[in-house]
Amino acid sequence: MMAPQQEVLVGVEESGAIPAVESSGGERDAPAVALRGLHRSFGSQIVLNGIDLTVGSGETLAVLGRSGTGKSVLLKVIIGLQKPDSGSIRIHGEEITRLDLDALNEIRKKMGFLFEHAALYDSLSVEQNVAFPLKRHTKMTASEQRDRVKELLAAVGMENDLKKMPSDLSGGMQKRVGLARALALEPGILLLDEPTAGLDPITSGEIDELILKLQEEHDMASIVVTHDLHSAKTIADRIALLHDGTVLIEGSFKELEKSDDEFVSEFLQRDS
Ligand SMILES: Nc1ncnc2c1ncn2[C@@H]1O[C@H](COP(=O)(O)OP(=O)(O)OP(=O)(O)O)[C@@H](O)[C@H]1O
Ligand SMILES: [Mg+2]
Repeated sequence: MMAPQQEVLVGVEESGAIPAVESSGGERDAPAVALRGLHRSFGSQIVLNGIDLTVGSGETLAVLGRSGTGKSVLLKVIIGLQKPDSGSIRIHGEEITRLDLDALNEIRKKMGFLFEHAALYDSLSVEQNVAFPLKRHTKMTASEQRDRVKELLAAVGMENDLKKMPSDLSGGMQKRVGLARALALEPGILLLDEPTAGLDPITSGEIDELILKLQEEHDMASIVVTHDLHSAKTIADRIALLHDGTVLIEGSFKELEKSDDEFVSEFLQRDS
């Protein structure tokens, strides 16, 4: 059985990744992602209360914060799965908050997204899940697709599990397949929700290395939501700590460590 949340998310066909395409409206040297004054509430609950963040090409931003603080909501708002109540989201300079679905889908083609619970297609094998975006958005032949899928799965250490179904995988394995799918089309922007949660330390380290490699080789902009401070320290150029709906502090790990804000130092100590 697929969880209701996953069903909704998988309903968006672009849940994996889609090829990078140039869209009109963008600006050449604009940051990959620029968020200004983002607000999002659910009923009377204010979750995002004025988020400002910028991520440049080749840059990795780690987003930290307590459970329930709005990290997953933030990622979903960035790829347009949820609409913000107000505020601006610019992807390579193009404002996306007022776009219709077709135009939004074009922008989504630049982004790879790994959901918090991987959200694989239950009825498709590992191989078919990773091939899905290739089938849909490229002109690759079946044999080219097979080669690319093998390469992607090898990158996440899953090359021996091609024929397995998602229900036959552990949570960590599902994550890795989700990551391979998110990378299938070499997106310019990668959004990862807890990529190393549920993984053993060695596999976590391998995923971190993979993210670093992609950042260097493909100049990819990444936003990585994580509870894993060690991982944040390893992969991120900058860290943003969300608290009470806003970015409480933003900077390098060293800068955060120097903060005399009580919540910041408690957060860093508790999770390290
Ligand atoms: N579709 C929704 N409808 C109502 N409330 C929602 C919805 N999505 C998220 N929320 C609420 O928004 C808040 C933030 O949720 P979110 O999933 O972003 O937290 P999180 O920071 O990702 O937490 P975790 O670290 O546990 O994954 C929670 O209180 C959650 O219940
Ligand atoms: Mg979350």
